Amino acid sequence: MSSGPSERQPTDMRVSFAGLELKNPVIAASGTFGYGVEFEDVVELSKLGGLVVKGLSKEPMTGNPPPRLYETPAGMLNAIGLQNIGARAFIDEKLPRLRQIKDVVVIANVFGYTREDYERTIHILNEAEGIAAYELNVSCPNTAHGGIVFGTAPLMLEDVVVTAKRASRRPLIVKLSPNVTSIAQMAQVAEAGGADALSLVNTFVAMAIDVESRKPRISNVTAGLSGPAIRPIAVRMVYEAADAVRIPVIGMGGISTAADVVEFMLAGAAAVQVGTASYWDPCATEKIVDELERWSAEHRVTRIADLIGSMVSE
Ligand SMILES: Cc1cc2nc3c(=O)[nH]c(=O)nc-3n(C[C@H](O)[C@H](O)[C@H](O)COP(=O)(O)O)c2cc1C
Repeated sequence: MSSGPSERQPTDMRVSFAGLELKNPVIAASGTFGYGVEFEDVVELSKLGGLVVKGLSKEPMTGNPPPRLYETPAGMLNAIGLQNIGARAFIDEKLPRLRQIKDVVVIANVFGYTREDYERTIHILNEAEGIAAYELNVSCPNTAHGGIVFGTAPLMLEDVVVTAKRASRRPLIVKLSPNVTSIAQMAQVAEAGGADALSLVNTFVAMAIDVESRKPRISNVTAGLSGPAIRPIAVRMVYEAADAVRIPVIGMGGISTAADVVEFMLAGAAAVQVGTASYWDPCATEKIVDELERWSAEHRVTRIADLIGSMVSE
């Protein structure tokens, strides 16, 4: 049957960045989707553009004591403390199952407290099959330099990116911290250091206090704010970063609908990640993919990639 002019044509949903081909631009964000396998029963993983696993370090880590999560207006505070099973256990216990799931792009998120930590973790992961790229979480304090967060000091950011790039046998995505004065400057520093792509934003440093007990809501006192509350700031930062560099930018921060995805793409994002939305609805990532396909067909978008950076300024 031929399709009449009123019938909707499906949109080509594919996007590519840093040498990766994704079937659609929706990626599950690190720390909100376990190691992927835990979501297998609720989300059809092969429908997603990709997934980023929980941040990995060279040794397992237990994280911070509770309370570690607190819901705020249209957002969430977390100070999980980068709890994870360690890079070797990820390879042995999680990756074999992920490899069996056909057609799923797995990105390993890596963090550390020294430059050497990042290097060693990447060396461990380099040996394993089934990882498409690394995402470098630079929102960690550098213990060798008085606890200054890597991603907030240009020279430290450049140093860790250069080190990671040299160590890596895979494309390197650098995940920027939003807790900086100029995101454009940090984007350029990461690009100059050898990043193949950028992702942003990580969470905003924030806090909340229980006025009855006068105690902090989170045991760590300060925590990271995520969810719809941060979305307009994240869109602005993605716009500024994408404008400042030539490498692709992956956008995130409060995405919970297809329209949110489109907004980030118009601002310049080549793909997006969905984080906190999976806490409210574990099926959020898959639902957003379905909704985005419908939205794109209804709006007669031929190729979703045509949306990237296509905001109309006046
Ligand atoms: C509970 C929780 C844990 C997170 N863990 C990590 C992590 O391990 N590594 C990382 O790079 N980002 C981590 N993030 C940040 C998210 O990946 C994402 O950048 C941020 O939450 C903004 O997106 P969202 O508003 O869609 O959640 C975490 C976020 C949350 C809420």
